[in-house]
Amino acid sequence: MAARYPPSLALSLLCLVAVLLAAATAAAPTVQGVSAERLFDQIEALGELSDTTPPSITRVLYTENDVRARDYVKGLMRDAGLEVREDSVGNIFGRLAGEDDSLAPVVSGSHTDAIPHSGKYDGVLGVLGAIEALRAIRESGVTTRRPLEALMFASEEPTRFGLSCIGSRAMCGRLDPDYLDTLRDENGTAFYEAVTSAGRGGGHENTASILSAALIPAGGIHAFVELHIEQGPLLEQEGLDIGVVTAIAAPASVSFDFLGNGGHAGALLMPYRKDAGLAAAELSLAVESWALGTKAIDTVATTGVLQVYPGAVNSVPRESHVEVDVRDIEEKRRDHVLDMIIKSAEQIADKRQCEMKYRIVNKDPPAPCADDVVAAVQDAADDLGFKSMRMVSRAYHDALFMAQIAPTGMIFVPCKGGVSHRPDEFSSKRDMENGVRTLALAMAKLAGVVEGEAAEGNGQERVVEGKSEL
Ligand SMILES: *[C@@H]1O[C@H](CO)[C@@H](O)[C@H](O)[C@H]1NC(C)=O
Ligand SMILES: [Zn+2]
Repeated sequence: MAARYPPSLALSLLCLVAVLLAAATAAAPTVQGVSAERLFDQIEALGELSDTTPPSITRVLYTENDVRARDYVKGLMRDAGLEVREDSVGNIFGRLAGEDDSLAPVVSGSHTDAIPHSGKYDGVLGVLGAIEALRAIRESGVTTRRPLEALMFASEEPTRFGLSCIGSRAMCGRLDPDYLDTLRDENGTAFYEAVTSAGRGGGHENTASILSAALIPAGGIHAFVELHIEQGPLLEQEGLDIGVVTAIAAPASVSFDFLGNGGHAGALLMPYRKDAGLAAAELSLAVESWALGTKAIDTVATTGVLQVYPGAVNSVPRESHVEVDVRDIEEKRRDHVLDMIIKSAEQIADKRQCEMKYRIVNKDPPAPCADDVVAAVQDAADDLGFKSMRMVSRAYHDALFMAQIAPTGMIFVPCKGGVSHRPDEFSSKRDMENGVRTLALAMAKLAGVVEGEAAEGNGQERVVEGKSEL
């Protein structure tokens, strides 16, 4: 056939075909219209729903401002054209139908609860960013094969009951109702009372049935991706746009109570003291030394709470309370450090003739991210021309628990100075927009793009769709 055309014309045609092919396989942005301005305004508006004055944010599970934040988020989901539902625990879902709506959805979300005096971005970016991503996908006329969902978890921070990730633990069946019922908030309120008085609980009669109603069955989620500020300095230091998370470190925490004799600081002579305060002090040094002892940079242990009673300058501490957090990306090493810390506490109690009680508050496994989700995030970042690096999440997130029921990944964006859990927490509009665009494209890849200009213009989606059958 080529012989029918002059050689030069055949060459030109070939070139044209090559150019068209290149255009078709190049990274034409699938999803348009992600608005950092809108996101920023929403973050500011949500920041007003706080027990402390913004930029200091305090929003605690099932309190008045938390309930108002839930209403606000549901309103945003409806505005974005999503179908809203809330489960018995208070996990809120906003759904965008897929071409085949019977398939398990691709889900993205995070939390809006905030520890006392923290900032506006932790968690919030992942909730509002997921809604913005789905809005942009819908408004770009992109249809995915699977449904997509934006998710606000009931609570991630341990503020109210001392236990983190209540929403995601419930969803994956990692929350023992009897244990949850033993917990009390600062005012002595139990979970069941708190959830029902916030108008949640789904009419169930006890904690066990509330939790089982929130359970997601096996295969119920096709893939989960969480967008979050890094909460560390690496991306900013390296001048990068996106962190592609490959694993989430395993957290554990344990609390100790020492009981000594106490007495007058002048009258109780040194040989007769059973000083619970010194026991706590010695234990916190042991915590540091066991963590350093692994010689692994990934082992971290912190004594974040150290209280002495009665706490008077002229009184020998009679009681002390210590809370220790231990994390690692290797579970065995983490567990060894935890065991050694408990053993040290026993020895210190013996030596100082104090009684000691301890309680393991949580001891969770690490979560490796799923290869296919990591690849979708990496491809999305590459397609969009963002500079990225692979990294480990040293903070835990709801994604830690979602990883137990679904292939999971995370997207990090830089935050100023690596600062988090502080009022000056900040992420720029540009960084947030980059994160949301990466999220939208990664979700579209994982869900499979079936029609619209984007799919025609980008053959890569179909390939990834096939690969992502997890
Ligand atoms: C505990 O009670 C105080 C005083 O009424 C209140 O300000 C605070 O919000 C309560 N805490 C929770 C978690 O409801
Ligand atoms: Zn968070």
